[in-house]
Amino acid sequence: MKVQYLPSIQKRGKFMRYDTAVILKRYFLCERALVIGQAGWLSGIPYFDIKMKLPKMMWEDAMTANELRNRVYELRFPSRMLEIGDDQALVDLIHQSFNAPNPLAFVMSLSRVFKPVLKQAYKDYLEMADVIGDGPTHRFLELAIREKEDQIQTLEKYILQYLEKEDHQNIGTALQWVKELQNKLDQIGGIGIENCKGTAVDLSDKVFSPTEVPKRDNRFIPVRFYWPDIVDESFPYGEGVKLQLRSAISHLNEIWAVENAGFILYEFAEDLGWDFIYDAARWVYDESRHCTMGYERLKQWGFEENELPLGTYIFESCKGKDPVYRLGMLFYFESKNIGKKPERVKSFAEFNDQVSQHDMDFDWADETIHTSYGKRWLSAILEKRGLNPKDYQKIKDECDRLVEGVISSVTKEEVQQITHITENMIKKAEHFAAAYEGKY
Ligand SMILES: [Fe+2]
Ligand SMILES: [Fe+2]
Repeated sequence: MKVQYLPSIQKRGKFMRYDTAVILKRYFLCERALVIGQAGWLSGIPYFDIKMKLPKMMWEDAMTANELRNRVYELRFPSRMLEIGDDQALVDLIHQSFNAPNPLAFVMSLSRVFKPVLKQAYKDYLEMADVIGDGPTHRFLELAIREKEDQIQTLEKYILQYLEKEDHQNIGTALQWVKELQNKLDQIGGIGIENCKGTAVDLSDKVFSPTEVPKRDNRFIPVRFYWPDIVDESFPYGEGVKLQLRSAISHLNEIWAVENAGFILYEFAEDLGWDFIYDAARWVYDESRHCTMGYERLKQWGFEENELPLGTYIFESCKGKDPVYRLGMLFYFESKNIGKKPERVKSFAEFNDQVSQHDMDFDWADETIHTSYGKRWLSAILEKRGLNPKDYQKIKDECDRLVEGVISSVTKEEVQQITHITENMIKKAEHFAAAYEGKY
């Protein structure tokens, strides 16, 4: 008797386990490359709002990449291979996009090429993927689609604002760059469910490296030292209004930590691998939250950008040096005051300044995480170099020496300038505090 079979007439079951793993691996490689590029560009992007928003996007992308990577491992079990294989042309093109001719071109390549293409790729995948068999992928890709949509809208909103002030030639160059990238991406078949066509596109062999002199928004006051006490020991840290301002200015000036964390993510991504990239993405994001905390408090107290100093001395102290010192700087200078933070939290509670108290409290929690990142990854680098992984003392000493070197190069004019800026800020804050006291 003839054997009978039930038909496979349901839409489910188009992709088998291995096929889905091949596609998800491609998405992981793209997200990974884009995280590295976004990190590397942070010191080169002058636009303050974008510098503050990009870290969150990068962190979201790293979270998506991590889910993708774990899922590929699950689907390919027991294999732990994540070979680039047929996706080489795609990864090369993304790396090539880091050589954008100006910051606007790089930001536009994200919001107009790569993020929309990835969003569409995830949508296409979810249309085809089985919600039962491949259920876990559905959860995180649905979230990734929403995040990408939000990222595109946020970037475009700020691009429009900055376009108004941007030089016409720069805009033209950026638009041309985006068009060329899109063409090249089309030539290799885009980022989709299908394999890359593998067509070789014309790519330059230029290697990108992050800028060592950070680009800053010209709405702020550019300085090297952002408060007099950095260069003048006799200048008091202060109490009351002065302590509130000092703390907010310190937070705002963690802009160097954002740029620096991005820099080291880029520099050590290949050597230290995915776990490092994943930690460093969170590190960058946290520092951008600390910087934003200070910015928001200062804005609420009535300060305009052109009254606020943005310093560069720690970032620039590593110029031309081994990037291991940048990791050291982030580790030492960010955790240096960690012991004082609970004390500050108490002071702000006494001043009834709940926001400063709140910000310092959350900052403290982040810094304890960063201390473990610092130890883990400094050790990993030392070990890779055949050195004692527990001996950070030499790195710490060199960091101190580098920063001391920059501090000792302060000029009389710089001291006068920052003292003047600070006195104006204190005067304004005291007026505001007096007016506030009278009112409430
Ligand atoms: Fe921080
Ligand atoms: Fe930190």
